[in-house]
Amino acid sequence: MENKDFFLIKKCDGLRGEVSISGCKNAALPIMAATLLSGGKTTLKNVPMLSDIRNMSEILTCFGASITQKNKNELIIDTENILHTIAPYDLTCKLRGSFLVMGPMLARMKKVRLSLPGGCPIGSRPVDLHLKGFAALGATITKGAGFVEVKAEELIGTKIYLDFPSVGATENILMAATLAKGKTTIENAAAEPEIADLANFLNKMGARITGAGTDTITVNGVDKLKGIKYSIMPDRIEAGTFMIASAMTNGDVLIKDIIPEHIKPLTAKLLEMGADLEITNDTIRVRADKICTAKDVKTLPFPGFPTDMQAQMTALLSLSKGTGIVTETIFENRFMHVAELCRMGAQIKVEGHCAVVEGKRSLSGTKVSASDLRAGAALVLAGLAAKGQTQVFNIHHIDRGYENLDIKLKNLGAQIERIERTPLQ
Ligand code: UD1
Repeated sequence: MENKDFFLIKKCDGLRGEVSISGCKNAALPIMAATLLSGGKTTLKNVPMLSDIRNMSEILTCFGASITQKNKNELIIDTENILHTIAPYDLTCKLRGSFLVMGPMLARMKKVRLSLPGGCPIGSRPVDLHLKGFAALGATITKGAGFVEVKAEELIGTKIYLDFPSVGATENILMAATLAKGKTTIENAAAEPEIADLANFLNKMGARITGAGTDTITVNGVDKLKGIKYSIMPDRIEAGTFMIASAMTNGDVLIKDIIPEHIKPLTAKLLEMGADLEITNDTIRVRADKICTAKDVKTLPFPGFPTDMQAQMTALLSLSKGTGIVTETIFENRFMHVAELCRMGAQIKVEGHCAVVEGKRSLSGTKVSASDLRAGAALVLAGLAAKGQTQVFNIHHIDRGYENLDIKLKNLGAQIERIERTPLQ
């Protein structure tokens, strides 16, 4: 059904106050998938209540898991009775992260059939590296019309070199390898903090993983894993989005419940651009009493600048002093927000993988549309800083990854309203 809800945003002269950051969506999704590896009950705390999380819950449920929500951000996932090994297209097509159930299901049930994830607005996003990893562990891969089936009587540990440090492939192979026979080494692995959080979770379940968070991960297979209690790490991308929101509105915001180490690439860039940052063990205060100075930004695998912050940074550069060049090296089509920012008066030219952003004194509010999650966040930030009134449409993309973005911004003094126009089903 067409989604007609939108955010109505008015210019904000400086966000002020404190904001608590939610649990990390991109850590919660693989960890939810990993619960399939145990035959027991797992309690997950600090789970952000988002549409992506609800969709992942539906996929686990369709395999036979039972899931109950306890407190506001707590899920109890019981994976004792996994009965089915096929997830239908109408569930898996809703989020690409659904593919993360493949490794755990292969290891636990010895087979699984999933719809192949389609392309998505930011790029073609193939899964070849995931499948190559499973094949190296001894699985047989069969591709049919729109689906892929993976089977293995037994997974055997081996050395796997990833052609690219894919986050999803590293997670999927890591999960499969926990129950494989012998030792698996993943080289050129992704080193994102979400992978370290997944490995911490798996180790607490009884896995034997070392090196997660570096480019070489070693997994010594074990016979079984148990259900546990675990708290999901904070969302570094949500934190980064609020940091830029403060910088863009000349605000003064204390961002709480975070791991500053995870946000270093953005912290370094904002300091270069002239923002004033105060960092403690678990907070960052971002103040900007003058316009930021434009700098160049290049997205790279962690610890480089995250592609998931590129759109928000492009929005900030469009209101900075000077010209900044944004180079996107992770996804081939991740500049969809540029056309919308230009409709608000931004001066940005895209050439291949680069966007040349010429800073302007002001942007003007208008109607814009979110093409994906982070593009949507960038448009909300632009709306907060733009003169007049901005309407951001297609906010279901934003709801996939930001828990109560509008409410949190309102608490910081923003004038933002969610206007609900989608008829109830
Ligand atoms: C994850 C994040 C996403 C983030 C991305 C990069 C989740 C749920 N999503 O996505 O928010 O933007 O990491 O930090 O955690 N690739 C291949 N073959 C593969 C797999 C990936 O060519 O088998 C390519 C992709 O097309 C892309 C690049 O590798 O160009 C990075 O993708 P990857 O790191 O796998 O991202 P995701 O895990 O999908």
